[in-house]
Amino acid sequence: LRNKYIDLIAGASDEGALEDLRVQAVGKKGEISLKMRELGKMTPEERQTAGPALNALKDEINAALAAKKAGLADAALNERLKGEWLDVTLPTRAMRQGTIHPISQVTEEITAIFADMGFAVAEGPQIDTDWYNFDALNIPGHHPARAEMDTFYMHRAEGDDRPPHVLRTHTSPVQIRYMEKHGAPCRIIAPGRVYRADYDQTHTPMFNQVEGLAIDKDISMANLKWVLEEFFSAFFEIDGIKTRFRASHFPFTEPSAEVDIQCSWVDGQLKIGEGDGWLEVLGSGMVHPKVLAAAGVDPNEWQGFAFGMGIDRIAMLKYGIPDLRAFFDSDLRWLRHYGFAS
Ligand code: PHE
Repeated sequence: LRNKYIDLIAGASDEGALEDLRVQAVGKKGEISLKMRELGKMTPEERQTAGPALNALKDEINAALAAKKAGLADAALNERLKGEWLDVTLPTRAMRQGTIHPISQVTEEITAIFADMGFAVAEGPQIDTDWYNFDALNIPGHHPARAEMDTFYMHRAEGDDRPPHVLRTHTSPVQIRYMEKHGAPCRIIAPGRVYRADYDQTHTPMFNQVEGLAIDKDISMANLKWVLEEFFSAFFEIDGIKTRFRASHFPFTEPSAEVDIQCSWVDGQLKIGEGDGWLEVLGSGMVHPKVLAAAGVDPNEWQGFAFGMGIDRIAMLKYGIPDLRAFFDSDLRWLRHYGFAS
């Protein structure tokens, strides 16, 4: 019996076979267990020799089972390690590094240039009340500018008595919020996202503007012109870029001007800062007295300029990008092509 099981255990090929053998030998109804039960029918003399012998056999079989089990586990582990062998000296696969989005890069460039001229950065909410976005900026309820801006209105449930909210259509509400809180004098830019229901090659429903605001006792349009020419020269890295002011109208500035920068077309390529062509880049003017008053600043004491510029638009000009929509498609091939991603 001993030799039979020792041989069988040695020959077991896996843990399942080993378990079968355990049941067969020392399980409740196993061969050795049954023999032990027969001890009761033996004479005391027989029992004295058979008892210890059976117990020893049972111990030996259990020990053999345990040893074999450990051996099988070792073998399985060795087998697995052989299959999973890893060469840690192999070079790793190259990982591409994340980069800052071009609009964020350009926003940082703009911020740095204006910071050099003493402008602080202000921010406002992208969801604002129609009072900040329109009324305080001298655009009353019936004003056509509201319709022109293709405003996204926030839905209001029946009985909701909060003031109407909109996705801000420009960064100009930040003028009001800033002056309300900090008063005059002030000198800020306010970059950020704005929204209008519009979509084509040069318009996306979300885009970026940077607002400028400088209020003091005697700030004039001449200061505005200087600041903008300084800015464009630094931004496009071309000395002495000229600007052209065209009379215009905004409800929140008086007088108002649209500003063009000097440019030309050479062999179908746009050149900024040279030639006698002009390209519109922003809206501006002297802050309307009603706007100052709405923000709690006394228009008899203070005056200043404001401007609003499309960040995406001047980014397109700087990097020669023809389609604005591509900025927001997150296509890595596009980002790499323009050097915005590695
Ligand atoms: N808010 C205007 C726009 O979005 C731009 C502007 C800003 C004009 C400040 C004048 C002064 O078109």
